[in-house]
Amino acid sequence: MERLDKFLCDSGAGTRSQVKAILKAGRVTVDGKAETDGSRKIDPALCTVVLDGEALGGKRRMVVMLNKPAGFVTATEDPSQQTVMELLPKPWQHLDLKPVGRLDKATEGLLLFTNDGELLHRLISPKKEVPKVYYARHEGQASADDVAAFAAGLTLRDDTVCLPARLEPIGPGESRITVREGKYHQVRRMMAARGMTVTYLERQQEGALTLDGLSRGQVRELTEEEIALLEQSL
Ligand code: URA
Repeated sequence: MERLDKFLCDSGAGTRSQVKAILKAGRVTVDGKAETDGSRKIDPALCTVVLDGEALGGKRRMVVMLNKPAGFVTATEDPSQQTVMELLPKPWQHLDLKPVGRLDKATEGLLLFTNDGELLHRLISPKKEVPKVYYARHEGQASADDVAAFAAGLTLRDDTVCLPARLEPIGPGESRITVREGKYHQVRRMMAARGMTVTYLERQQEGALTLDGLSRGQVRELTEEEIALLEQSL
């Protein structure tokens, strides 16, 4: 059994104060009867809770895609800097969503979040080698030798050895880079190892998922089909 107001928060209905107002406004029914008392105990497995005509499912598995803007650190909290958690809609901030891996503060693009710990683990596991595609602008021009060095598996300046990766020069000072691991500052360090300084970085793809028209700063929940697609890359 759990409190109705907690169940509503966990279902994404709103923050605690929003849920209080929602209940007061008579927008919630439990098993067909209007309910305004948030302290009422319900059994989520047995009760049907409906908000504005829509049944709520309790704390369900969520996978969310953000098109991250620059200027936010990938962390659940930070004493002095804005975090990516602040970009999630308020009602989602209580659903235990965690960022999947990390993008640097300056990096933009595709960042996933989930409250499914097991999926999170598999997505960031080095063993799974989920491909991630980045667009980079950089000083210097990528040469055929650089492409070959990426394909062979680069050794970084601190002697870290990287898995084979794909470097595709796509214009003057512009490249697409595909890596299958997530080391700290990986793309920037790989490019630096070849004498190129990254000036802009965007993640465009993770597994089979792309940003697919999602604007910078926007978030959306993945559909079950998209989650299945993602799991296929694991
Ligand atoms: N590689 C980097 O260097 N930075 C990122 O944010 C992601 C990959």
